[in-house]
Amino acid sequence: MTGQQSLEQFKGQARLPKFAVPRRYDLFLKPDLAACKFSGSVEIAVDVVADTGFLILNAAELAVEDGSVWFQGHGASQKLRPLEITNVEKDEILVLRFNEVLPHGEGVLGVRFQGTLNDRMKGFYRSVYEHDGAKKNMAVTQFEPADARRCFPCWDEPAFKATFKITLEVPSDQVALSNMPVEKEEVNGDLKKLFYQESPIMSTYLVAVIVGLFDYVEASTTDGIKVRVYCQTGKSSQGKFALDVAVKTLDVYKEYFAVPYPLPKLDMIAIPDFAAGAMENYGLVTYRETALLYDERHSAASNKQRVATVVGHELAHQWFGNLVTMEWWTHLWLNEGFATWVSYLAADSLFPEWKIWTQFLDDSVSGLRLDALAESHPIEVDINHASEIDEIFDAISYLKGASLIRMLQCFLGVECFQRSLASYVKKFAYSNAKTEDLWSVLEEESGEPVKMLMDSWTKQKGYPVVLVSIKEGNLDLEQSHFLASGSSGDGEWIVPITLCSCSYAVQKKLLLKTKTEKINVDQLFDSSNQENDGCLWVKLNVDQTGFYRVKYDGELETGIRYAVENHKLSATDRFGILDDSFALCMASKQSLSSLLSLMIAYREDPEYTVLSHLVTVSYKVVNMIADANPELSDDIKQLVSSLLQPSAERLGWDPKEGESHLDAMLRGEVLTALAHFGHDITRDEGLRRFNAFLNDRDTPLLPPDTRHATYVAVMQTVDKSRRSGFESLLKIYKETDLSQEKTRILSCLASSPNPDVVLDALNFVLSSEVRNQDAVFGLGGISSEGREVAWKWLKDHWDYISKTWGSGFLITTFVSRIVSPFSSYEKADEIEEFFSSRVTPAISRTLKQSLERVKINANWVKSIRSESSLAKFVKELAYRKY
Ligand code: BES
Ligand code: ZN
Repeated sequence: MTGQQSLEQFKGQARLPKFAVPRRYDLFLKPDLAACKFSGSVEIAVDVVADTGFLILNAAELAVEDGSVWFQGHGASQKLRPLEITNVEKDEILVLRFNEVLPHGEGVLGVRFQGTLNDRMKGFYRSVYEHDGAKKNMAVTQFEPADARRCFPCWDEPAFKATFKITLEVPSDQVALSNMPVEKEEVNGDLKKLFYQESPIMSTYLVAVIVGLFDYVEASTTDGIKVRVYCQTGKSSQGKFALDVAVKTLDVYKEYFAVPYPLPKLDMIAIPDFAAGAMENYGLVTYRETALLYDERHSAASNKQRVATVVGHELAHQWFGNLVTMEWWTHLWLNEGFATWVSYLAADSLFPEWKIWTQFLDDSVSGLRLDALAESHPIEVDINHASEIDEIFDAISYLKGASLIRMLQCFLGVECFQRSLASYVKKFAYSNAKTEDLWSVLEEESGEPVKMLMDSWTKQKGYPVVLVSIKEGNLDLEQSHFLASGSSGDGEWIVPITLCSCSYAVQKKLLLKTKTEKINVDQLFDSSNQENDGCLWVKLNVDQTGFYRVKYDGELETGIRYAVENHKLSATDRFGILDDSFALCMASKQSLSSLLSLMIAYREDPEYTVLSHLVTVSYKVVNMIADANPELSDDIKQLVSSLLQPSAERLGWDPKEGESHLDAMLRGEVLTALAHFGHDITRDEGLRRFNAFLNDRDTPLLPPDTRHATYVAVMQTVDKSRRSGFESLLKIYKETDLSQEKTRILSCLASSPNPDVVLDALNFVLSSEVRNQDAVFGLGGISSEGREVAWKWLKDHWDYISKTWGSGFLITTFVSRIVSPFSSYEKADEIEEFFSSRVTPAISRTLKQSLERVKINANWVKSIRSESSLAKFVKELAYRKY
């Protein structure tokens, strides 16, 4: 009751009280681009639904003008002034206390305020660009997860949906965009006022405003929705690819969700300073330049794919996220897991030749890796403060989330799943939903026990490894909680098992509901099948649609190897066997020799995703062997290089007329790996082509797909006395205005085996040449020889780094990239000690995860050292003639 209400009780709460709810915002903003300030006013139609003498909403870093706050209650003829206005900075709330109980029903709250266009890429911020040779500021918003409150006072939680009527006052020469189309424009000398149409009801984190100078390209969907891609003046042709993808993708989703795109227009825009990859603001999607712009001459095939998948992801949110919104951040995975999964559907429909569902496994593996840590978290997480939200935008919400959706889709069937999703979107459109709401709809449509099944996956962290063996005429299945440390967790799951034996024609499905299960072998093997030379193999997790690992025991292990070596398995299954084997080896559940001998079987694999994964696994194996047994370092490099030889020879350096997208990507990855592993012929050829590129940036000798490989070749050979290659790369970096080229260079600079050069590279990353948004790319390829220098550099600059990249995934990337590669317990202790007085909520989970990774590496190193016959084995394989 109001009599008992006091300011104190509103402090320290996770959520705003619900006694008053916003219905409509009339928001006016006037940015001052030169002074980096803004002023504004908001009138919020508020429904008072319970007795209260307080109004409580979010605000942060805003100066609320004295005397500007008023409330006019329902049916009242007078405006009330609050007795007291308190800004509780810690909780980011504005508490208005009135001296009477507010009348129930809809009233209006008015506030005038001022703020700063900050440099932190969140809230209302400025981004810097060049126009006609001069530096200019643009004003940009980034509100997700909880930063609309830094732009205007509001009920800044996803479930407080309201309509937005936005008005901007900006210099007449500027382009100003918001979620909706302009309804009316008033020009007044140097200034103009733009009145935007009122939006449908939506959450605050999706509101957007942008003011700057831009060009655009435009097209329409079959429904007449106008789609535009905005970018810096003079670059609009680079927007054409994304535009085409967007127009087609909107049609795909309209069909898939059985609901048309809900707004009259869609703008997509490239922002030069942008913290995330992209943001799905309703009707005005913002992107990093690398995720939106595609340059025919200088972008690589991988850049093209990135643009298509990011566009697909953000447009999926227009339905999944914007139309139907998670009720609270605990259910973030509903947004991000779904958008990630759906983006593959769209990419597959637009570009079937990309075999994107095979590539999905790469994403899935990132989820499996993180979730194999004891320091992982369940998909559904309690959130008690806005500062905790940033950390859950991680591989669990995105990639485990997407993988679980795929697993469920395969379990329920493609058609049933689509039908259910369409009915879920219809049921919760313009509203909010929790994870259980989705399960209910799926359960209703399918008749399957979806909630029971999925609770075991979303409410506990981790996933199982299923041990499969043959005993006494039965196939025995046994699940246990897989941890990369090699210990076993206490989780138990309901596992949708699929399996096939000796042929894909015979498949079996079952739900493993208990720890163990027996299947009669006679049901599985068709003894009349002569094709397998008598060798019986069983593959669990057919096509890797389940989020679990499999360990084959005894003769089944021999059988599955036989199936790989004799080309019996699909690319997805080959990928899965390699990755499971790698993960089991890292957890010391399998010897490194057995992983290496499996890797040999992939030597001539024709498939992009499989080979690309062989490369990924090779990097890690090479690093670990170098740490465990440095004398074997050259031999293991020789060994993995010999595995990549056949592909390198097939692909060559020059693109072939009409070659596939996947070959173009594979060429880049294979040559990069060979240059990295010290393959002389590749390095020399890389350097030759790099020199040609230095003389002519349009040389046909160095198309975009192979540039990364040559940059790595350059950095491998740079040393303190021969630095010209390093200097040349910096020169290209400074000259190019293509962000993808800058990123490509940054990601190679620290890959030199010379620690002095690594240090120079890291210092460059902190210089004014590199935008804050891009610094993390410079930490991407730090060589193992450069780890120590990088760690010292991080300590020396920690105060500056933590101040500059304070929260969000940019700061966590600094920690994870520099800490995780180490592989000794002593180092883990040293790092822990350094951070003990420096850890903040923004990095605490990542730090724990990174330290756990160091210990896992250390375990692995220990078990490699104990493999007595390894050296002989590696040497023999390395110099084998095929
Ligand atoms: N909603 C996110 C953007 C975001 C991320 C906002 C973190 C606030 C904090 C957006 O939809 C997204 O997921 N972007 C991804 C790209 C996507 C293709 C995975 C990103 O930014 O990396
Ligand atoms: Zn997203």
